[in-house]
Amino acid sequence: MGSSILSIIYLIGSVTFILGLKMLSKPDTARKGNLVAAAGMTLAILGTIFLYKTNGEHLHNYGWITAGLLIGGIVGVLSAKKVKMTAMPEMVSMFNGMGGACAALISIVEFNHLIHFSSQPGDVIKDGMSQLTKLLQQVIANSSSMANSDLNLNNIIDFRGQLTIILLGLIIGSVSFAGSVVAWGKLSGKVKDFSFNGQHILNLLVMAVLVIAAIVLVVIVNDRLLTTQTDGNPLLVLKLLFYSILLLSLFYGVLFVLPIGGADMPVVISLLNSFTGVAAACGGFLYDNPVMLTGGILVGSAGTILTILMCKAMNRSLKNVLIGSFGGVKTANADNKDQGVYKEISLNDAAVVLAYANKVIIVPGYGLAVAQAQHACHELEKMLEDKGVIVKYAIHPVAGRMPGHMNVLLAEADVPYEKLLEMEDANAEFPTTDVVLVLGANDVVNPAAKSDPNSPIYGMPILEVENAKLVIVNKRSMKPGYAGIENDLFFQPKTSMLFGDAKQVLQHLLAEIKQV
Ligand code: TAP
Repeated sequence: MGSSILSIIYLIGSVTFILGLKMLSKPDTARKGNLVAAAGMTLAILGTIFLYKTNGEHLHNYGWITAGLLIGGIVGVLSAKKVKMTAMPEMVSMFNGMGGACAALISIVEFNHLIHFSSQPGDVIKDGMSQLTKLLQQVIANSSSMANSDLNLNNIIDFRGQLTIILLGLIIGSVSFAGSVVAWGKLSGKVKDFSFNGQHILNLLVMAVLVIAAIVLVVIVNDRLLTTQTDGNPLLVLKLLFYSILLLSLFYGVLFVLPIGGADMPVVISLLNSFTGVAAACGGFLYDNPVMLTGGILVGSAGTILTILMCKAMNRSLKNVLIGSFGGVKTANADNKDQGVYKEISLNDAAVVLAYANKVIIVPGYGLAVAQAQHACHELEKMLEDKGVIVKYAIHPVAGRMPGHMNVLLAEADVPYEKLLEMEDANAEFPTTDVVLVLGANDVVNPAAKSDPNSPIYGMPILEVENAKLVIVNKRSMKPGYAGIENDLFFQPKTSMLFGDAKQVLQHLLAEIKQV
């Protein structure tokens, strides 16, 4: 009875994950989607704690489980409440690292269950595995009994299958944990970019050693140690190899992320996120737990798709993100080309132009998030609409520093979703727009992406704001954005610069428009 209820709970949990993910794809249902998936996860956790049985027994250690849930829950809620929007990638990275660490810990625990026979009540290993470990103990105790033992080929294959999954979880989880911690350190400014000549070759070598050690553990060590009596403790060799793989995986995680530019971290975090999903799915296999498997596969595939989409939206290959040094190299464009002169617009003139326009499109970018000017921006939108101006927002898929950054930022200020135009729709509307107000955006409106084949962002789809009648760009200086390149848009005749911190400029603009 209990197990059928648990199966139903797991089914409900899996369905809520899929529904939640679907709802997350639209801004107006995203919050609800998050809650739906979280409710499913809570149900699955409670079901496992109270209904899951192993060797006919319920779980024990309720004190430890409750303490873990409380500590994790409190830390999670407090940090999620406290985090600033601009520090979101950092937090995602840390949470992701915790997921990787969990997967690696599961592998460590299950490896020890696999190699140490234990028949104590409440043991969480499954019957099949327990049997294997019993056989392993028998063989180690007396290899001559091998011929009579049930350790037949199927059992060895089964043993190897379990060990392979354990190792996959260990390697992927540890790489994800160590990599995420380094990514978190870089985003919070605690770890500097670090690379040296030949680093990528060293990385490949470490990865090769890792793969070979895992294969040795699964293929050779099983056969040899399970069938040969040795004077010492054969399990020690298994353990040594296993823990060496753990250390090497952690080392690889650090090496892998260390040379990648700090600004490329969102893509790397998304990739590491997909690693964690795969590692968690390995846990699902081990425990024969469908909800853990579904959750892991969903995270793994969603992370992979997101990584690909981010690369596509930046027109860069994953290889270029992982081994390139984007933003660090200045192009010929930045150094040699004479950009001409730019012109400035006063606050007063900008206010008049905006107030008398028919249609205004606002282009938010990373600078708007830095300035935390989303509320002032929403105020401006409402004030202009009160004056009869049509106001919309053009959202570039990689504006800001994380997927959906601008959507979340504007949602925080209660900007209605229907005012947000996706890139293609916005590009279709620019020719009929009187004024485009660019707020802290740079690369996503850089025409070099279309016109300069030497530009590092060449081929990246951009918001074609230059097609509007007038463009006002707000930023603090003429400094480049994320890609480290000059922007021709700022020097075009239709463009006027409105310098200053986005929040202050918007507050002044509001005051000026009131007078118009
Ligand atoms: P950026 O190209 O980075 O430009 C942001 C601009 O904001 C800067 O030029 C900066 O100029 C200005 N700024 C900074 N603080 C400001 C403030 N307080 N007030 C006003 N302006 C301020 O941003 P974008 O146009 O949003 O493009 C995003 C870039 O990040 C793209 O190149 C994209 O490929 C990359 N990227 C995005 C993601 C995702 S998933 N979103 C992930 C990785 C990389 P000043 O210093 O002169 O003020």
